[in-house]
Amino acid sequence: MRRTFVSMLILILFLTASNAAAADDQLPASAIISRFQQYLQINTAQPTPLYRVAADFLLAEAESLSLQSQTLEFVAGKPLVLLKWPGSDPTLPSILLYSHTDVVPVEHHKWSHPPFEAHVDPDGNIYARGSQDMKCVGMQYLEAIRRLKASGFNPVRNIYLSFAPDEEIGGHDGAEKFADSDVFKNMNVGIVLDEGLASPSEEYKMFYGERCPWWLVIKATGPPGHGAKLYDNSAMENLFKSIETVRKFRASQFDLVKAGLKAEGEVISVNMVFLKAGTPSPTGFVMNLQPSEAEAGFDIRVPPTADVESLERRIAEEWAPTSRNMTYELGQFKQKTPVTDNFGRPRVPTTGSSNPWWALLEKAVQKAGGKLGKPEIFPASTDARYFRNQGLPAIGFSPMANTPILLHDHNEHLNQAEYLKGIDMYESIIKAYSSYVEHPSKESSKDEL
Ligand SMILES: *[C@@H]1O[C@H](CO)[C@@H](O)[C@H](O)[C@H]1NC(C)=O
Ligand SMILES: [Zn+2]
Repeated sequence: MRRTFVSMLILILFLTASNAAAADDQLPASAIISRFQQYLQINTAQPTPLYRVAADFLLAEAESLSLQSQTLEFVAGKPLVLLKWPGSDPTLPSILLYSHTDVVPVEHHKWSHPPFEAHVDPDGNIYARGSQDMKCVGMQYLEAIRRLKASGFNPVRNIYLSFAPDEEIGGHDGAEKFADSDVFKNMNVGIVLDEGLASPSEEYKMFYGERCPWWLVIKATGPPGHGAKLYDNSAMENLFKSIETVRKFRASQFDLVKAGLKAEGEVISVNMVFLKAGTPSPTGFVMNLQPSEAEAGFDIRVPPTADVESLERRIAEEWAPTSRNMTYELGQFKQKTPVTDNFGRPRVPTTGSSNPWWALLEKAVQKAGGKLGKPEIFPASTDARYFRNQGLPAIGFSPMANTPILLHDHNEHLNQAEYLKGIDMYESIIKAYSSYVEHPSKESSKDEL
């Protein structure tokens, strides 16, 4: 009787203790997840993002963390929230933790859970537009800072966080104007962290550059003719010769990727995105007429390592040669020469020994129990290019390992355990970056010359 009582007491004590331990583990985690959900639930999808609601949410978070805050509006209705955690030595270049607040639109009916509910399924997957791109990163920065503050950490360098609008539509009213502003100049930024991509393997992806979009339209002209006649130099025939040449080039680049010789971000990709030709009739197209004009559009992505001049020559001489009566236009989205910054200097490498930020990141991630893959070139473009244009190093990193790449896809989701691990990574990175004090050695100054 007595023995039973004692063992029951022990059992009760054990259960109470383990419940308390579980509560200790779970309570802060659930608060962290719920803050992430709140941010995800704000519908900031283009073309009508609720920027004001998102800004108010972020400003409230900043206040709870005692961060300095200001809202910049380069264009009315498009707030950029800028937060600051002052460091003890403001003369050192600062750290910018960058993220964008907008997300791409959704096709509601193709989602298994509503895209702005941030539903957590039994496996812990959080379903929401922006869960990968890139509200996760924005909130992880804040959560990492919450922990660092709670631990009594004090940064040496100034730490800035910016939450910018419009990345998904080109960043012209957000990052582009921000990077050009006096506010930005006065921040004396030394390194920018921006988004990367999820990684299906256990290694995080890290990006040190990105490809520039070149949007090319080629146009052929030729004499019109009867649909039954075989003759040379028609617009269609001339255009098809070009398309064949472009496709051969496309295959040569694609083969390098397929053979594993180059990563996707390291080749020039070319995809035909439209064909415009034919003479419209009320029921479709005139069938017995060869048209006098034909056009094709291509989305080309150029890595910073590519030989830009030779590509331009290729376009002029092989893809749209005047000898074949062709003309071409590189659309308004053609970027500045991608190998140099706004000042015509080679872009600052973010990898390699002359740049400390890459090694610091690698070490910080390892320290937090993560693994980094080899640095890559981002296959699409991000706002980081505006900072790189200013001659700054920028690293693309979204800590999501063991995660399918679902940005811009239906059912975008992120597992909560992976999200929490990402906070550990940023805690370690922010700590390392903000306490790094440069000791310029003779060797590194030689490198710069
Ligand atoms: C280009 O246009 C000219 C003038 O119409 C024509 O004589 C010539 O054959 C065309 N050349 C080709 C390759 O289409
Ligand atoms: Zn993004």
